[in-house]
Amino acid sequence: MAENADPENGPPRGHAALMDQVYRNQRHIYDLTRKYYLLGRDRLVRELGATPGQSIVEIGCGTARNLIRIAETYPGVMLYGLDASHEMLSTAEEAVRKAGLSQRIKLVHGYAENTSPAMFGLSAPFDHAIFSYSLSMIPDWRAALAAAARSVGTRGRVHVVDFGDLEGLWSPFGRALRAWLRLFHVTPRDRLLKLLETAKGPEQEIYILPGRYAFVFRASPQAVAGLENAVLDA
Ligand SMILES: C[S@@+](CC[C@H](N)C(=O)[O-])C[C@H]1O[C@@H](n2cnc3c(N)ncnc32)[C@H](O)[C@@H]1O
Repeated sequence: MAENADPENGPPRGHAALMDQVYRNQRHIYDLTRKYYLLGRDRLVRELGATPGQSIVEIGCGTARNLIRIAETYPGVMLYGLDASHEMLSTAEEAVRKAGLSQRIKLVHGYAENTSPAMFGLSAPFDHAIFSYSLSMIPDWRAALAAAARSVGTRGRVHVVDFGDLEGLWSPFGRALRAWLRLFHVTPRDRLLKLLETAKGPEQEIYILPGRYAFVFRASPQAVAGLENAVLDA
């Protein structure tokens, strides 16, 4: 697996070690347990709309669960995954090999904040960039979104699925859920969701799950770059 972390522009020192600590044991039960609460991921895959010949990067790809589903759903696409955790990547490598997809799915160690096609030795931009429950763990999620927007071609798309602001849930349950997520260093990005909702436009789509538990979003890179300024100004 290639090493591709730029410590100059990456997350705070020790972030990769923290992610390894979170996932060292969890990675063995990750796919089994997360299918019950990382909701909306299959919707994102279904609605990706990739076509043969396209390239797709998942930023914070974890165990490669989504990359494998995408490869099976969309024949002829090339997939790239980056993650800050070596532990998660070792599970991902094994899963990709077992699925017989090593020729179509390439994985590197690296940071979302530095995402670029060059991380994978590519010169052409990606057609799709995906964040699946990773923005809620990425310290500088604004920088990560901006890097994704820069890494996608002008006709490409940036896709996000993540926790919502939980405001439609029974509030003691919402509070307990937040406290439990904190144990895993997960923070729902409330401001991002609010902004994405108000910024609806012709190139953006957002679907919010019941209780505002989670959301699925997609937009052009130009729309995402515009959001970045609004996020920074908010
Ligand atoms: C909750 S998991 C989601 C994994 C996968 N995307 C999924 O949907 O199952 C979040 C992942 O983001 C990774 N991550 C956290 N911060 C990161 C960063 N700054 N750069 C790259 N990956 C990061 C973690 O190591 C972890 O694998």
